[in-house]
Amino acid sequence: MKIVTSKKELSEELSQIRKVGKSIGFVPTMGALHDGHLSLIEYSNKDNDISIVSIFVNPTQFNDKNDYIKYPRIVEEDVDKLKKVKCDILFTPSEKEMYPDEDKREFDFGNLDKVMEGAHRPGHFRGVALIVSKLFETVKPDKAYFGEKDFQQLAIIKKLTSQLKFNIEIVSCPIVREKDGLAMSSRNMLLSKEQRANVSIISKTLFAAKEKQKSMTVSETKDWVIRTINENSFLKVEYFEIVDMTSLEPITGWNQKAEKVGCVAVHVGTIRLIDNIRFYS
Ligand code: PAF
Repeated sequence: MKIVTSKKELSEELSQIRKVGKSIGFVPTMGALHDGHLSLIEYSNKDNDISIVSIFVNPTQFNDKNDYIKYPRIVEEDVDKLKKVKCDILFTPSEKEMYPDEDKREFDFGNLDKVMEGAHRPGHFRGVALIVSKLFETVKPDKAYFGEKDFQQLAIIKKLTSQLKFNIEIVSCPIVREKDGLAMSSRNMLLSKEQRANVSIISKTLFAAKEKQKSMTVSETKDWVIRTINENSFLKVEYFEIVDMTSLEPITGWNQKAEKVGCVAVHVGTIRLIDNIRFYS
Protein backbone atom coordinates (compact mmCIF):
# COMPACT_ATOMS: atom_id res chain seq x y z
CA MET A 1 0.00 0.00 0.00
CA LYS A 2 1.31 3.42 -0.99
CA ILE A 3 0.86 6.23 1.55
CA VAL A 4 0.60 9.67 -0.03
CA THR A 5 0.24 13.00 1.77
CA SER A 6 0.25 15.58 -1.04
CA LYS A 7 -2.44 16.25 -3.66
CA LYS A 8 0.25 16.68 -6.32
CA GLU A 9 1.81 13.28 -5.65
CA LEU A 10 -1.63 11.66 -5.55
CA SER A 11 -2.66 13.25 -8.88
CA GLU A 12 0.56 12.02 -10.52
CA GLU A 13 0.07 8.52 -9.15
CA LEU A 14 -3.58 8.47 -10.31
CA SER A 15 -2.87 9.76 -13.81
CA GLN A 16 -0.52 6.76 -14.33
CA ILE A 17 -3.30 4.44 -13.16
CA ARG A 18 -5.88 6.10 -15.44
CA LYS A 19 -3.49 5.98 -18.45
CA VAL A 20 -3.57 2.17 -18.35
CA GLY A 21 -7.37 2.22 -18.17
CA LYS A 22 -7.77 1.07 -14.58
CA SER A 23 -10.92 1.96 -12.66
CA ILE A 24 -10.64 3.78 -9.34
CA GLY A 25 -12.83 3.29 -6.26
CA PHE A 26 -12.64 5.80 -3.42
CA VAL A 27 -13.54 5.53 0.27
CA PRO A 28 -13.23 8.87 2.11
CA THR A 29 -12.93 8.50 5.91
CA MET A 30 -11.88 10.35 9.03
CA GLY A 31 -9.94 7.31 10.26
CA ALA A 32 -10.43 5.26 13.45
CA LEU A 33 -11.43 2.56 11.02
CA HIS A 34 -13.90 -0.16 11.99
CA ASP A 35 -15.51 -3.06 10.14
CA GLY A 36 -18.06 -0.67 8.61
CA HIS A 37 -15.26 1.23 6.84
CA LEU A 38 -13.55 -2.03 5.88
CA SER A 39 -16.79 -3.25 4.27
CA LEU A 40 -16.80 -0.11 2.06
CA ILE A 41 -13.27 -0.96 0.91
CA GLU A 42 -14.35 -4.52 0.16
CA TYR A 43 -17.21 -3.20 -2.01
CA SER A 44 -14.72 -0.94 -3.77
CA ASN A 45 -12.28 -3.81 -4.32
CA LYS A 46 -15.03 -5.90 -5.92
CA ASP A 47 -16.07 -3.11 -8.33
CA ASN A 48 -12.73 -1.47 -9.23
CA ASP A 49 -9.12 -2.21 -10.20
CA ILE A 50 -7.71 0.17 -7.60
CA SER A 51 -9.05 1.29 -4.20
CA ILE A 52 -8.05 4.54 -2.53
CA VAL A 53 -8.86 5.45 1.06
CA SER A 54 -8.44 8.92 2.54
CA ILE A 55 -8.03 9.63 6.23
CA PHE A 56 -8.57 13.26 7.16
CA VAL A 57 -10.29 14.55 10.29
CA ASN A 58 -11.98 17.46 8.61
CA PRO A 59 -12.10 20.50 10.96
CA THR A 60 -14.78 22.38 8.98
CA GLN A 61 -17.47 19.77 9.61
CA PHE A 62 -17.21 19.87 13.42
CA ASN A 63 -19.64 22.40 14.84
CA ASP A 64 -18.38 21.45 18.33
CA LYS A 65 -14.65 22.13 18.98
CA ASN A 66 -14.51 19.51 21.76
CA ASP A 67 -15.90 16.85 19.45
CA TYR A 68 -13.09 17.70 16.99
CA ILE A 69 -10.42 17.51 19.72
CA LYS A 70 -11.80 14.23 21.11
CA TYR A 71 -12.27 12.56 17.71
CA PRO A 72 -10.15 9.36 17.77
CA ARG A 73 -6.90 9.50 15.77
CA ILE A 74 -5.14 6.12 15.50
CA VAL A 75 -3.47 6.20 12.10
CA GLU A 76 -0.95 3.40 12.81
CA GLU A 77 -3.73 0.96 13.69
CA ASP A 78 -5.67 2.16 10.64
CA VAL A 79 -2.68 1.45 8.37
CA ASP A 80 -2.45 -2.14 9.70
CA LYS A 81 -6.16 -2.69 9.01
CA LEU A 82 -5.90 -1.21 5.51
CA LYS A 83 -2.98 -3.48 4.61
CA LYS A 84 -5.13 -6.49 5.52
CA VAL A 85 -8.10 -5.53 3.30
CA LYS A 86 -6.02 -4.58 0.24
CA CYS A 87 -6.12 -0.84 -0.05
CA ASP A 88 -3.85 0.32 -2.88
CA ILE A 89 -3.34 3.95 -1.88
CA LEU A 90 -3.89 5.73 1.43
CA PHE A 91 -4.17 9.51 1.20
CA THR A 92 -3.50 11.26 4.54
CA PRO A 93 -3.22 14.99 3.81
CA SER A 94 -2.52 17.69 6.40
CA GLU A 95 -4.98 20.48 7.13
CA LYS A 96 -2.76 22.90 5.18
CA GLU A 97 -2.81 20.59 2.17
CA MET A 98 -6.63 20.48 2.06
CA TYR A 99 -7.26 24.07 3.16
CA PRO A 100 -4.29 26.17 1.93
CA ASP A 101 -6.65 29.17 2.01
CA GLU A 102 -10.02 29.69 3.62
CA ASP A 103 -12.67 28.07 1.43
CA LYS A 104 -15.63 30.48 1.40
CA ARG A 105 -17.97 28.42 -0.78
CA GLU A 106 -21.61 28.08 0.25
CA PHE A 107 -23.98 25.37 -1.01
CA ASP A 108 -27.71 25.15 -1.52
CA PHE A 109 -29.08 21.69 -0.83
CA GLY A 110 -32.71 22.83 -0.40
CA ASN A 111 -34.44 20.94 2.40
CA LEU A 112 -31.74 18.27 2.67
CA ASP A 113 -29.44 20.14 5.04
CA LYS A 114 -32.15 22.02 6.97
CA VAL A 115 -33.51 19.05 8.95
CA MET A 116 -32.22 16.53 11.49
CA GLU A 117 -28.38 16.68 11.58
CA GLY A 118 -28.47 19.94 9.62
CA ALA A 119 -30.80 21.57 12.15
CA HIS A 120 -28.83 20.34 15.18
CA ARG A 121 -25.27 20.73 13.84
CA PRO A 122 -25.14 24.14 12.12
CA GLY A 123 -22.48 24.28 9.39
CA HIS A 124 -21.79 20.53 9.55
CA PHE A 125 -22.94 19.68 6.05
CA ARG A 126 -21.24 22.72 4.53
CA GLY A 127 -17.99 21.35 6.00
CA VAL A 128 -18.73 17.87 4.62
CA ALA A 129 -19.49 19.37 1.18
CA LEU A 130 -16.26 21.43 1.24
CA ILE A 131 -14.03 18.46 1.97
CA VAL A 132 -15.84 15.90 -0.18
CA SER A 133 -15.76 18.23 -3.20
CA LYS A 134 -12.02 18.87 -2.66
CA LEU A 135 -11.34 15.14 -2.35
CA PHE A 136 -13.45 14.35 -5.43
CA GLU A 137 -11.57 17.03 -7.43
CA THR A 138 -8.24 15.46 -6.46
CA VAL A 139 -9.08 11.76 -6.69
CA LYS A 140 -11.62 11.88 -9.56
CA PRO A 141 -12.72 8.32 -8.81
CA ASP A 142 -15.13 6.29 -10.94
CA LYS A 143 -17.08 5.31 -7.83
CA ALA A 144 -17.15 6.57 -4.24
CA TYR A 145 -18.47 4.53 -1.30
CA PHE A 146 -20.41 5.83 1.71
CA GLY A 147 -22.16 4.06 4.59
CA GLU A 148 -25.91 4.35 5.14
CA LYS A 149 -25.45 5.04 8.86
CA ASP A 150 -24.83 8.64 7.81
CA PHE A 151 -28.03 8.58 5.83
CA GLN A 152 -28.49 12.33 5.50
CA GLN A 153 -24.84 12.81 4.53
CA LEU A 154 -25.34 10.30 1.74
CA ALA A 155 -28.35 12.23 0.40
CA ILE A 156 -26.35 15.46 0.47
CA ILE A 157 -23.30 13.94 -1.21
CA LYS A 158 -25.52 12.62 -4.02
CA LYS A 159 -26.94 16.11 -4.46
CA LEU A 160 -23.46 17.71 -4.32
CA THR A 161 -22.19 15.27 -6.94
CA SER A 162 -24.97 16.20 -9.35
CA GLN A 163 -24.80 19.96 -8.61
CA LEU A 164 -21.03 20.10 -9.19
CA LYS A 165 -21.34 17.69 -12.14
CA PHE A 166 -18.80 15.19 -10.86
CA ASN A 167 -18.78 12.14 -13.08
CA ILE A 168 -18.71 9.83 -10.06
CA GLU A 169 -21.12 7.06 -9.09
CA ILE A 170 -22.06 7.34 -5.42
CA VAL A 171 -22.48 3.86 -3.97
CA SER A 172 -24.48 3.57 -0.74
CA CYS A 173 -23.54 0.63 1.45
CA PRO A 174 -25.55 -1.01 4.25
CA ILE A 175 -24.96 -0.24 7.93
CA VAL A 176 -22.62 -2.71 9.62
CA ARG A 177 -23.67 -3.54 13.18
CA GLU A 178 -22.00 -5.02 16.26
CA LYS A 179 -23.37 -8.37 17.52
CA ASP A 180 -25.81 -6.56 19.85
CA GLY A 181 -27.10 -4.36 17.01
CA LEU A 182 -25.15 -1.15 17.72
CA ALA A 183 -24.34 0.60 14.42
CA MET A 184 -20.56 0.72 13.97
CA SER A 185 -19.09 4.18 14.41
CA SER A 186 -15.65 5.58 15.19
CA ARG A 187 -17.26 7.34 18.14
CA ASN A 188 -18.20 3.99 19.76
CA MET A 189 -14.62 3.65 20.99
CA LEU A 190 -15.14 6.76 23.15
CA LEU A 191 -17.93 5.05 25.16
CA SER A 192 -17.22 3.90 28.72
CA LYS A 193 -17.91 0.23 29.58
CA GLU A 194 -21.15 1.22 31.29
CA GLN A 195 -22.29 3.41 28.39
CA ARG A 196 -21.38 0.68 25.89
CA ALA A 197 -23.56 -1.80 27.80
CA ASN A 198 -26.56 0.53 27.44
CA VAL A 199 -26.35 1.88 23.87
CA SER A 200 -27.71 -1.23 22.14
CA ILE A 201 -31.13 0.02 23.31
CA ILE A 202 -30.94 2.50 20.40
CA SER A 203 -30.93 -0.05 17.58
CA LYS A 204 -33.17 -2.49 19.49
CA THR A 205 -35.78 0.27 19.77
CA LEU A 206 -35.49 1.08 16.07
CA PHE A 207 -35.95 -2.59 15.09
CA ALA A 208 -38.97 -2.83 17.40
CA ALA A 209 -40.40 0.40 15.94
CA LYS A 210 -40.50 -1.22 12.53
CA GLU A 211 -42.87 -3.81 13.99
CA LYS A 212 -44.93 -1.12 15.79
CA GLN A 213 -45.59 0.34 12.34
CA LYS A 214 -48.31 -2.32 11.98
CA SER A 215 -50.28 -1.10 15.00
CA MET A 216 -49.30 2.55 15.57
CA THR A 217 -49.60 5.79 13.61
CA VAL A 218 -46.45 7.65 12.50
CA SER A 219 -46.79 10.11 15.33
CA GLU A 220 -47.40 7.36 17.93
CA THR A 221 -44.36 5.46 16.63
CA LYS A 222 -42.21 8.60 16.93
CA ASP A 223 -43.36 9.23 20.50
CA TRP A 224 -42.84 5.57 21.41
CA VAL A 225 -39.24 5.55 20.09
CA ILE A 226 -38.31 8.74 21.92
CA ARG A 227 -39.95 7.59 25.17
CA THR A 228 -38.42 4.10 25.05
CA ILE A 229 -34.86 5.33 24.46
CA ASN A 230 -35.18 8.11 27.04
CA GLU A 231 -36.32 5.57 29.66
CA ASN A 232 -32.66 4.50 29.82
CA SER A 233 -30.87 6.98 32.07
CA PHE A 234 -27.66 6.88 29.98
CA LEU A 235 -29.46 8.02 26.83
CA LYS A 236 -31.10 11.28 25.72
CA VAL A 237 -32.73 11.51 22.31
CA GLU A 238 -31.91 14.69 20.37
CA TYR A 239 -34.35 13.90 17.57
CA PHE A 240 -36.16 11.01 15.97
CA GLU A 241 -37.75 11.76 12.62
CA ILE A 242 -39.48 9.56 10.05
CA VAL A 243 -38.81 11.03 6.62
CA ASP A 244 -39.11 10.44 2.89
CA MET A 245 -35.84 8.75 1.92
CA THR A 246 -35.30 11.02 -1.08
CA SER A 247 -36.57 14.46 -0.04
CA LEU A 248 -36.07 14.04 3.75
CA GLU A 249 -39.49 15.71 4.15
CA PRO A 250 -41.40 14.40 7.21
CA ILE A 251 -43.78 11.48 6.75
CA THR A 252 -47.19 12.08 8.29
CA GLY A 253 -49.01 8.83 7.39
CA TRP A 254 -47.86 5.28 6.63
CA ASN A 255 -50.05 5.31 3.50
CA GLN A 256 -47.76 7.92 1.86
CA LYS A 257 -46.12 6.47 -1.25
CA ALA A 258 -42.53 7.46 -0.35
CA GLU A 259 -39.86 5.09 0.87
CA LYS A 260 -39.50 5.82 4.58
CA VAL A 261 -36.55 5.98 6.95
CA GLY A 262 -36.49 6.75 10.69
CA CYS A 263 -33.38 8.66 11.78
CA VAL A 264 -32.29 9.12 15.37
CA ALA A 265 -29.56 11.08 17.19
CA VAL A 266 -28.88 10.22 20.81
CA HIS A 267 -26.61 11.78 23.43
CA VAL A 268 -24.70 9.33 25.61
CA GLY A 269 -22.96 11.64 28.07
CA THR A 270 -20.79 13.87 25.87
CA ILE A 271 -20.88 11.40 22.94
CA ARG A 272 -23.47 11.69 20.22
CA LEU A 273 -24.53 8.65 18.19
CA ILE A 274 -26.78 8.38 15.14
CA ASP A 275 -28.61 5.43 13.60
CA ASN A 276 -31.51 4.80 11.23
CA ILE A 277 -33.96 2.16 10.08
CA ARG A 278 -36.02 1.68 6.92
CA PHE A 279 -39.74 1.35 7.51
CA TYR A 280 -42.05 -0.72 5.30
CA SER A 281 -43.24 1.35 2.34
O1 PAF B 1 -18.41 10.17 6.96
C1 PAF B 1 -17.28 10.64 7.21
O2 PAF B 1 -16.40 9.96 7.77
C2 PAF B 1 -16.97 12.07 6.83
O3 PAF B 1 -18.08 12.88 7.00
C3 PAF B 1 -16.40 12.22 5.39
C4 PAF B 1 -17.41 11.80 4.35
C5 PAF B 1 -15.14 11.37 5.26
C6 PAF B 1 -16.04 13.67 5.13
O4 PAF B 1 -15.10 14.14 6.05
